Formats: sequence, C-alpha cells, structure tokens
Amino acid sequence: MIIRENMKTKAMKTINNELYIGNYRLKDLAQQYGTPLYVYDEAGVRDKIARYKKGLQSNLFKCNVVYASKAFLAPYLCDMLIENDFYIDGVSIGDMYLIQKSGYPMDHIVLHGNNKSNEELTYAVKNGVEYIVVDNKSELKRLIKIEEELKKNVKVLFRINPGIHAHTHAYIETSLLDSKFGESIYDLDIIDEMIKLCMENEYVEFNGFHAHIGSQITNADSFASEASAMLKFVNKIEKQYNIDVNTLNLGGGFAIKYLDDDNEINIEEALEKMIAAVESEVKAGNVHIKRLMIEPGRSLVGDSGVTLYRCGGKKKTYAGKEYIFIDGGMPDNIRPALYDAEYTVGVANRVESDEKRTYDVVGKCCESGDIIAKGVEVGEVHEGDIIIVYSTGAYCYSMSMNYNGLTRGGVIFVGDTVKEVIKKQSLEDLVSTCVFKEK
Ligand code: LLP
Repeated sequence: MIIRENMKTKAMKTINNELYIGNYRLKDLAQQYGTPLYVYDEAGVRDKIARYKKGLQSNLFKCNVVYASKAFLAPYLCDMLIENDFYIDGVSIGDMYLIQKSGYPMDHIVLHGNNKSNEELTYAVKNGVEYIVVDNKSELKRLIKIEEELKKNVKVLFRINPGIHAHTHAYIETSLLDSKFGESIYDLDIIDEMIKLCMENEYVEFNGFHAHIGSQITNADSFASEASAMLKFVNKIEKQYNIDVNTLNLGGGFAIKYLDDDNEINIEEALEKMIAAVESEVKAGNVHIKRLMIEPGRSLVGDSGVTLYRCGGKKKTYAGKEYIFIDGGMPDNIRPALYDAEYTVGVANRVESDEKRTYDVVGKCCESGDIIAKGVEVGEVHEGDIIIVYSTGAYCYSMSMNYNGLTRGGVIFVGDTVKEVIKKQSLEDLVSTCVFKEK
C-alpha cells in the first residue's frame, strides 16, 4: 500500500484513488497540457506567502520578505508576490528583464550575483532597483564608475560571508571561508576599503550588509547563529565608522520536505529567533538596524509544486533491476544528478496499490545518471500512467535545459481555475536561436 499523505500539497486530495488539486484531476491536467508538466498548488504558495508575511514582523524596524526568484520565476508568481508587497531578487539582467516585464516595480528588486557585468549594473542603476548587493571590492569600483557616468544614486548592501556552517549539501553551502560569495567577515581591510569608497562617493549609498549561509537548512538555530554573528559585526562597524547600519539582509535557506521522513524548517520558529536576535541588539542600542530582510526561495514554492510525467514503459534488466521510464528526466530536474537529491514518487492515477516492488525512476536521456529517484516504491505502474514527483516547485523548472533535444515542460498554477503561466516549449522554440542555412 502506498500512502503519500505527508507529501501532499495544500489543496491536494485523493478521490477514487486518483490525485486532484482542488477540483482538478491531475491526470486530466497532464492530458490537457502535455507532459512533463510542472503543476503548482496556488493555495500552497499563497499559504507560504502569508506565513512569511505574518512571521516577519517587528515594532522596532521595517521587515521585508524578498523572494529569491532563482527558485522559480514566472510572471504569474510575480503578480502574487507584489499583491503582498514582497520584494524580489534577481541575479542577472535576464531575471531583471522578466521581473520588470511582469510589471514588478523596480524599486522592489534586489540585485545579486558574484560576477555582475557592467551591462547588468548599468541596467540596475538606470532602472532604479532598491538594492544592489555588492559581492566584492572590484565590483564596487566598477559600480562607482558607472554611477559617476550616469549621475544616479543607488543603495548598496555588501555581501558578507560570516563563515557559518549551514550543515547542508556542499554545493549549496555558501558561507564557508573559501566560498566564492561575498567578502569574508574576517577580511576587515577589504571591507574597510569598501566602506571608505562609499563614504567618499556621492552616488553610492552604503546601507548595510547581506549574508546567506546556504540552502535547505533544517535547523532554526543556524539562522540564529547567523543573525548573532552579523549583529556583532554590525555593532563593530557602527562603532568604528560612527555610522548607523540601516539594513540587514539575512538571506534564505529555509528547508522543505522531499521525503516522508525529512525534517522541514519550522518557519515561524526560525523567523522568531531571527527577529528576537535583532530586536534585542536594537533595544540594547548596540545596533541601529531599521530594516530587516530575508530571502526565502525554495521554501516559498518548493513543496507546492509537483511534476507530472507519462510512463513510457518498464524494464527489468538481466541483473534484476527494475526501471520505470518517464518522458522527461534530468533536463527538467537536474537535482538528483547534481546533488544526489532524493524525491518521492507516486502514480497520480492510482494512489494506492498493493505492489511493493522497488524501481529506479529514470528519464529518457543518454546518460546513466539520468535518474529521478533510485530504489523507490512507486506502487503498481503501467505504461501510460501519470507519474508524479513531489516537491519539485523549486530549482527544477528554473534549472531546466534542453539536453538531448528535450523541450522544457509547461507550468500551470491550479487554484479556483487553472492558469497556464509558462507554455510548454515547442519544437520551433527549441530551434529559435539556431541559424539555418537559407533554402
Ligand atoms: N539568497 C541568496 C543570496 C541565495 O544565493 C539563495 C540561494 C537564496 C537567497 C535562496 O535560498 P533558498 O531559500 O532557496 O534556499 N540549486 C540549489 C540551490 C541553490 C541555492 C542558491 N542560492 C538546489 O537545487 O538545491
């Protein structure tokens, strides 16, 4: 018997042994929009938005949630975020372009990136983003030059690497001392130079610091440690330069469940601990923070999204391994290949069955590593069934690609109605940047 109760999205339910989100049967959605199909449960995303909004509040300073759009970006999601006065971050001109085209106010955008081009910096300054998070000294120097040419002010935060262990996968841990992101909290000479460069310049307004210690962090105490390290640092800087540090951005990293027995972060507890840490230092007069920001990405969308595939068949090898073939794979979910990420898999049109065999669920690419889930119990499966992979709302569509000529799947949001928010790529889309010889 296969039961996936714990993995269900907010409005997901089982009717006659088939999965639905709200009133929509997943099998019908797969049929209508084609597979692979990324399906978001709108109620789930809205619920997360509400929890972050409610959880991040203080009477002592302004609080802003900045959605880390690298997790998943689409105009419809932008609409939902701006309705709730969320900020949004981008890491490239491409992100900013899409966000701007969605009608997002530019003064609600935060620009990140460890190697921003002059074109990206110029775009950000010209369009008036809220913050540029400066990664390093040489970037700051380039930014200053651009601003002098444009004669336009911009507020900056410095990305600081506080050297906190996030206890997560090495590829998504960003705050070790040899990480490529930000300047180290211990490199005081460099930070000194950066602050002075801002003080001497009439256009660049130094507003504070940013840190992000990693992703998929399950322990609320990691965020408390990060907050306390950064607050100590802010206190030192305020005293040394006799300035008020206006803004502290503590990044994202809040974990979700991928498997039944995974721990997810207790969002409310993590936010409470962060706020308490900042409030106590503000109350004591040790820091003068007027604005606290956080940047959840995965946690806002990850567990409200699922991917639907059609099963193309099964195979049992001579050595006895059993495979389920799906009509997608690593191009639409690179996470198992890249991070050994594990996923929960089921059959959307046959939720429970008595079959207990384990399968490797694999894609259609010419790669042995094209595995979505290894050794998982999926239940009874037949060719043509709709395979569901849970918790794929973050870093799946956004990291998708066209390897082996596979087209990217479409994205729908399911609420009272179904909204197609990103169309399934067509063959013409796939070849649209190729230069063909003239006939
Ligand atoms: N802020 C900054 C500066 C970041 O670099 C990131 C993620 C976030 C916020 C959001 O982190 P989140 O809340 O989503 O954990 N592709 C990897 C995750 C890479 C995260 C990169 N930075 C994965 O699929 O697990």
